[in-house]
Amino acid sequence: MSKKEVVSDASDDAVPHGSNNIAMYLEVEELEGIGPVMKTKLNTAGIVTVMDLASKSPNEIADAVGSDLQRATEISEKAREKLVELNYLGDNFVSATEIYKRRMAIERVSTGSRNLDDLLSGGIESQAVTEFYGEFGCGKTQICHSLCVKVQQSKELGGLHAKAIYIDTENTFRPERIVGIAEARNCDPDAILDGIIVAKAYNSSHQELIMSELGKQVRENGVRLVIVDSAVAHYRAEFLGRGTLSERQQRLNKFMHSLVRAAEIYNVAVVATNQVQASPDTYFGDPTRATGGHVVAHTSTYRIYIRKAGKNRIARMVDSPYHAEREVLFVLDEKGVDDPAEEGSSTPKRKQS
Ligand SMILES: Nc1ncnc2c1ncn2[C@@H]1O[C@H](COP(=O)(O)OP(=O)(O)OP(=O)(O)O)[C@@H](O)[C@H]1O
Ligand SMILES: [Mg+2]
Repeated sequence: MSKKEVVSDASDDAVPHGSNNIAMYLEVEELEGIGPVMKTKLNTAGIVTVMDLASKSPNEIADAVGSDLQRATEISEKAREKLVELNYLGDNFVSATEIYKRRMAIERVSTGSRNLDDLLSGGIESQAVTEFYGEFGCGKTQICHSLCVKVQQSKELGGLHAKAIYIDTENTFRPERIVGIAEARNCDPDAILDGIIVAKAYNSSHQELIMSELGKQVRENGVRLVIVDSAVAHYRAEFLGRGTLSERQQRLNKFMHSLVRAAEIYNVAVVATNQVQASPDTYFGDPTRATGGHVVAHTSTYRIYIRKAGKNRIARMVDSPYHAEREVLFVLDEKGVDDPAEEGSSTPKRKQS
């Protein structure tokens, strides 16, 4: 039997933004102006730490504690200020050099394919939302499954030695597939399964509720990867017809922003999948567009469009603050996401487990 990689409990070396334990566990009552009544209200709403507070919008805080928006905004600002004071978050004004230094420290999770990693400058980034969109069967869910295995591997193998949360909205999470990918990558399948926390979202409100409880799960389990497969499916199914479009977009906007804040505050890599819809007004290029319109497009940090090309898949970086728009080939096989055999590959296949 081949030697299995040991996947130990990830929580010890998965502390976000350096080893800032103080920031991670600082409770809300440590903030000036938060008394026992406010603390109870916040805790009841699942907001336990200052980081939980900073990950919420003032509107969400106001809803949770039944206060006016001004009070909620004050609390939200205090939480951010505290995290800046503890050197966990950056100040409002910082030099580009400082930002560059911080970006160099950003960690990445390998997808399992060198080509796809190259497209992403090394893999899925922490503190960012990466969106994969494309038609049915193009491999979005396979990418999500692969990432759940890869994130648990050691840093040398492209992982973060940390756990994953899988928010499954389409009932397509398959533990058997995880076992298959883990075995193909020489990992212990039982340990890998233990390192994935699955949350099934039954409708859009449930999906939002799960998101509001994310902080606790991330903190308690040492999670560094959060998957939402798919981010838009429930909104698309529930809000039908033109009359409901603005409410749908508003709710989706709120959800996408909560993903962006969670990525930043909890130092996790967030991956959201999205479907495509026929777009008859497009005459050039591919006549498909991501659903969710501008809302999802403008909120994701990186957007990758996947399409089928025979047995292969083509991934294109569509929207990124710093990547060039280009395409790479990858395949779906027993390892989940993988590189094509050398012929037809955009870069030579190198060995990777
Ligand atoms: N064990 C496997 N080995 C190789 N390829 C597989 C395996 N399991 C699934 N696939 C491939 O993955 C494809 C399905 O991809 P996936 O479920 O990721 O699509 P998707 O983009 O999530 O689609 P949807 O929009 O319907 O959710 C299958 O058509 C098949 O080609
Ligand atoms: Mg899918």
